Amino acid sequence: MQQDLLPDDLFDQFRAMIYRTTGIRIPETKRVMLSNRLKRRVQATGDGTFEAYYARLAAGGDRLEIGRFVDAITTRETYFFRDPHHFQWLADRFAKELIERSRVKKHPKSMAIWSAACSGGEELYSALIRLAEVHQPPPTWELRALGTDISEAALRSAREASYGDRSLRSVTQAERKRWFTFDSGTNRWKLSEELKGRATFRTHNLLHPIREGPFDCIFLKNVLIYFDAESKARVVRHMVNALEPGGYLVVGPTEGIYGMLNRLERVESWLYRRPDGG
Ligand SMILES: C[S@@+](CC[C@H](N)C(=O)[O-])C[C@H]1O[C@@H](n2cnc3c(N)ncnc32)[C@H](O)[C@@H]1O
Repeated sequence: MQQDLLPDDLFDQFRAMIYRTTGIRIPETKRVMLSNRLKRRVQATGDGTFEAYYARLAAGGDRLEIGRFVDAITTRETYFFRDPHHFQWLADRFAKELIERSRVKKHPKSMAIWSAACSGGEELYSALIRLAEVHQPPPTWELRALGTDISEAALRSAREASYGDRSLRSVTQAERKRWFTFDSGTNRWKLSEELKGRATFRTHNLLHPIREGPFDCIFLKNVLIYFDAESKARVVRHMVNALEPGGYLVVGPTEGIYGMLNRLERVESWLYRRPDGG
């Protein structure tokens, strides 16, 4: 391949395509990063030039390659127990509140959690670990734990639930021993089958409403940083609609949506609750 950097016009066309597809606004300063990520796809497809690769995607027929394009442009790096207090709150406060609400018949014996933009499952599994440590939800309850992402590569990793040391950097030795098995052949940590079996993963684009729900708790973290105001507002609308009255939205530190959450009650800077009658 001759070209190293995307020329101006194609850089803008790709940025517009990425925005339409994902809601992500690639900043003008990221030309080298985007060129490098796309170069690999241009080579893998044999298209030879950025222009030919753009034409392939724009024609819309090659769904498989559109998926790989999304995989190439998304940033999926994350780790277990990122913002540990979010998961501690889930085990200490949230689970107890649901139990109490169900005791006074304000909630069925069920718990529904959604990790929206779940990457390799680290966020959803962190939640399930903390809940399992306090034996929640009770075995007689129905648990729905859903992870969704726009990237198929992310979902494959989430379903496989096998992690390197980087992903487990905040997981203690005791926790590793309890919830993972080390595979010395691959140098990876496999999550226990039991926890893995509690989660379901599927493709979903945050720009669209979700058909499952309502949820008692939604995690929306480390994904909206490059979304513009219009896309953020769209995502927030879908999130609030997907929350059960009395349900919680856990927001990451870089989402930049605090000013858009006026339909919710603020509990903490990172935690919002849908009013009971709201
Ligand atoms: C950095 S990861 C964050 C993962 C997780 N929320 C956490 O904080 O641990 C960002 C994820 O957002 C996903 N993503 C980006 N745009 C998306 C969209 N429009 N819809 C759904 N997922 C999206 C990416 O594929 C990536 O897996």
